[in-house]
Amino acid sequence: MTDIDNNQKQRTAIECVGLCKRYGDIPAVCGADLSVSEGRFLALLGPSGCGKTTVLRLIAGLEVPDRGEVRVGAQTVAGPGINVPPEERKVGMVFQEYALFPHLNIEDNAAYGLSAYERSQGKRAHEVLSLVGLEGVKDRMPHELSGGQQQRVALARALAPRPDVILLDEPFSNLDAGMRVRLRAEVRRILRKAQVTAVFVTHDQEEALSLADEIAVMIDNRIVQTDTPERLYRRPESHMVATFLGDANFLPGRARNGAVECELGTLPMAQGTEGDVEIMFRPEDLVLTSDEKGPGVIIEREYFGHDQLLRVRMDSNTILKSRLVGCCRGLREGERVRVKVDSPVIAYPSPYGCPAEVSPLE
Ligand SMILES: Nc1ncnc2c1ncn2[C@@H]1O[C@H](COP(=O)(O)OP(=O)(O)OP(=O)(O)O)[C@@H](O)[C@H]1O
Ligand SMILES: [Mg+2]
Repeated sequence: MTDIDNNQKQRTAIECVGLCKRYGDIPAVCGADLSVSEGRFLALLGPSGCGKTTVLRLIAGLEVPDRGEVRVGAQTVAGPGINVPPEERKVGMVFQEYALFPHLNIEDNAAYGLSAYERSQGKRAHEVLSLVGLEGVKDRMPHELSGGQQQRVALARALAPRPDVILLDEPFSNLDAGMRVRLRAEVRRILRKAQVTAVFVTHDQEEALSLADEIAVMIDNRIVQTDTPERLYRRPESHMVATFLGDANFLPGRARNGAVECELGTLPMAQGTEGDVEIMFRPEDLVLTSDEKGPGVIIEREYFGHDQLLRVRMDSNTILKSRLVGCCRGLREGERVRVKVDSPVIAYPSPYGCPAEVSPLE
């Protein structure tokens, strides 16, 4: 193996290749590929039942894959003829329900995964409790802490044995909205400080977009795209991802020489597919201007405070969505408008599929 190969290996903390797992007749994971670089915070985002928890359990060694491989660092921990037990994988796990031991105090909970020697020293438990800001409550029992504090103890316990990787399964979903937002920012800060690679499962898009370095979108037991939050939102590779993450407008069109003709005119494309396509643009890219001779009419307005969503029916009967930030600029239901797409559109080959080469984001 060359030095370059070695360096690349070192930089990948988790790699899953073609992972498959069924429970009897039920497919849970069907050919999942996932790669997480060292120190990155990756969100595994998908609807309920799509296989997110199963992927984490396969990485942790709590399940054995039917097919495929899992590597943690440079070591293959699961694959044909290989099944490294969970305790030897250097992987920590934090679950949705805090799963603290009710009969142990906070310090003993934090020290649970340590060797008898390290437990007796007390130093490591103190370090991780201080990392999560809870050294002051080490003598309390779990029921004497809030939900957010208990989840931070669970994180301290997972970090105590110095894992290379932490897996968090919907760690914030048992908390109320305010606590959830505070704790998730805190957890990200703690994990950065501990320089640990993390995969966290969520079905909350906002949580994934705002917290993660990268997002892997999982739909129907497959990971369909892994990208930075910005690229995933601006350049979804399929109709399915575009609709799963955020709101989208779609129109049929014909693409030629980097532009697409559709009922809104000739629009620049962010990619070079030719022929019959389906174009996609986000509602915030659709600019409306009041015009009594315009080809659309506003049929519905939803006001959210920080922004509002307007639905426009074109004379062709196509319905488009436009998201406006700030004041409504006099746009009311029943008003006629001109429409303009303010950003290059994404085009998928028609029928739906993955686009060809996508040009880099500016
Ligand atoms: N132990 C099990 N026995 C049988 N089926 C299972 C088992 N665990 C999971 N499944 C099934 O496998 C599929 C994937 O489950 P998984 O728990 O991985 O989904 P998930 O994406 O984590 O869902 P959620 O968001 O609801 O937690 C589902 O259809 C589920 O019913
Ligand atoms: Mg789950």
